Amino acid sequence: MLDGKKSLFSGMQATGTITLGNYLGALKNWVELDSEEYQCFYSVVDLHSITVRQDPAELRKRARNLLMLYIAAGLDPEKNCIYYQSHVSAHTELAWILNCFTYMGELNRMTQFKDKSAKHADNINAGLFTYPCLMAADILLYQADVVPVGIDQKQHLELTRDIAERFNNIYGEVFTVPEVYLGKVGTKVMSLQEPTKKMSKSDENANAHILLLDEPDVIMRKFKKAVTDSDGEIAYREDKPGIKNLIDIYCGVTNSTVEQALKEFEGLGYGVLKERVGEAVVAELKPIQDKFYDLSKNKDYVDKVIKENAEKAGYYANKTLRKVQKKVGFPERVR
Ligand code: TRP
Repeated sequence: MLDGKKSLFSGMQATGTITLGNYLGALKNWVELDSEEYQCFYSVVDLHSITVRQDPAELRKRARNLLMLYIAAGLDPEKNCIYYQSHVSAHTELAWILNCFTYMGELNRMTQFKDKSAKHADNINAGLFTYPCLMAADILLYQADVVPVGIDQKQHLELTRDIAERFNNIYGEVFTVPEVYLGKVGTKVMSLQEPTKKMSKSDENANAHILLLDEPDVIMRKFKKAVTDSDGEIAYREDKPGIKNLIDIYCGVTNSTVEQALKEFEGLGYGVLKERVGEAVVAELKPIQDKFYDLSKNKDYVDKVIKENAEKAGYYANKTLRKVQKKVGFPERVR
């Protein structure tokens, strides 16, 4: 709890322009969460990004774009604290302390660590290994009650809870133990070219993914090329992954149920189906894109948001950090 409200924290990495999958899986859920009910913190987690090698200029640009996309997608920066993780040094300071309360064995079990070490075998650095401690620090600094994330982050969340409980058992109630919030029936968006694989921005075939900033005609073209099947029946079934994915995407952007969608599509051919889904996606993304380009032109406004929200995040984060520092035995600051 913070200031009498439940506290909510989430973050995303700035590893490229985000896809429709990231949007429907995370960002759109965030926008629908109530900033009246929760004290919301949404971070662009740039400290996490350097666990794999980055081009500095690119990282800076992508981080700013992601922050603007948060706002463009509908997170009001007056009501939601939108900030860069690297602007609040308490994250790294608490991460160090939590490193000392996390076991090697626990970190060794993390599937994301195993996956990333396999993928970046030439750079298995200590940061990649202790990544979950930094993530725990992100969450615990803001006494988060809920953490909306995708299913792939559940293991990290469970470790965060273990670390918080371990710390509380030793020092008393310091941290709120956070709950995972997996959102409504998770829209897992699949590749448009290989609909049994998750949609990924790293896919070499650009037709496989929709990027949030793809232009309307590009979006329509990618949907027209989407892989379906040959039986011509519009049905929502596991053995028809291409059609199922199109229906999921449609339901995700229009907030309709599968039943409603099937009714709307009754009797249509695949060509029209793809067009309808494409149009629905364009209708959802166009206003976000317009707002994004407006923000890009409005440097002073965005800079002000960045500065003010970093100060606000820093205020809450430092309150928790000071408490922790005192608990573990660091000397009081002389004022
Ligand atoms: N690890 C998350 C991801 O890769 C991003 C993240 C970092 C995060 N810190 C977080 C998500 C804290 C939720 C809460 O998607």
